[in-house]
Amino acid sequence: MTFTEELKLKTQIADTWVKKLAPSGDDIHKEVFEAANYSINAGGKRIRPVIALAVCEMLGGREEDVMPFACAVEYIHTYSLIHDDLPCMDNDDLRRGVPTCHVKYGEALALLAGDTLLNHAFETIANANAPGETIAKALKILSALSGANGMIGGQVIDIRGAKSHEELLILHKKKTGALIVAAAKLGALASGRPNDEDFLAAEGFAENLGLAFQIKDDILDIEGDVATLGKNINRDSETGKVTFVTLFGIDGAKAALDEYTGKAKAALYRFGDRGNFLSQLAESLALRNR
Ligand code: IPE
Ligand code: IPE
Ligand code: MG
Ligand code: MG
Ligand code: MG
Repeated sequence: MTFTEELKLKTQIADTWVKKLAPSGDDIHKEVFEAANYSINAGGKRIRPVIALAVCEMLGGREEDVMPFACAVEYIHTYSLIHDDLPCMDNDDLRRGVPTCHVKYGEALALLAGDTLLNHAFETIANANAPGETIAKALKILSALSGANGMIGGQVIDIRGAKSHEELLILHKKKTGALIVAAAKLGALASGRPNDEDFLAAEGFAENLGLAFQIKDDILDIEGDVATLGKNINRDSETGKVTFVTLFGIDGAKAALDEYTGKAKAALYRFGDRGNFLSQLAESLALRNR
């Protein structure tokens, strides 16, 4: 299989599971499930569950063992996007090629749809067919990385504005890197009994990839095409965000993107050929146009 074929296959697997395990429930308040599933079904690249699946497979694990954990990360990610787009945050009206959740359903329901996905993520892990100890470890990983010391903390620095290169690195590591790290760690956990070195290498890969991923997002906010991207551009400058581009210029941001992509790939060294897919994934994400 070529890399492109494998990416397509893994994305399809991820998409199928994400939809299959999505929240549903009592008819009497079905609008909250509708709003949550509207954002889930709008698509997205599914990069986080693909990373979880690829790390798990690289370490010899199976799809059915990792996918509930992988979906949980995608639910947290989608909730973070719904809230990120709210008028009190980035105030965006286009996401994944369709009107944002609050534009379609109103702010109150969008807020509650985000809350629904947040809770559903942990319920999905709790219901996974895995040993109790693995489930407890998975809950610990995801709650720490999505909480106030992880993704939420990054969002807090983002709305306040990073004041230095150092703060910007922390901001990007937390707001975007944390969930990508969660995907890799959950993939490693689901593989069975990863040794400490494998676990750390997968984490190092994801930390650097997460940074590169957000730097590219900052670049796409300037150079991207709205129809391809599925979200509006120039939003960072309009909302006065401090990004790699505002601090270092577009060329400086591109140099940083190459640097962290290279570091992500280097972290896979110990896996030899088994790391090929993730290495090529890092390269393709640096070149992405959406
Ligand atoms: C967008 O994430 C927000 C960031 C953390 C940069 P993605 O670019 O993964 O968005 P989707 O899931 O494909 O919509
Ligand atoms: C979003 O970062 C990160 C999270 C949702 C945690 P951005 O605000 O840059 O993402 P986009 O550009 O709106 O997708
Ligand atoms: Mg934001
Ligand atoms: Mg935003
Ligand atoms: Mg952005």
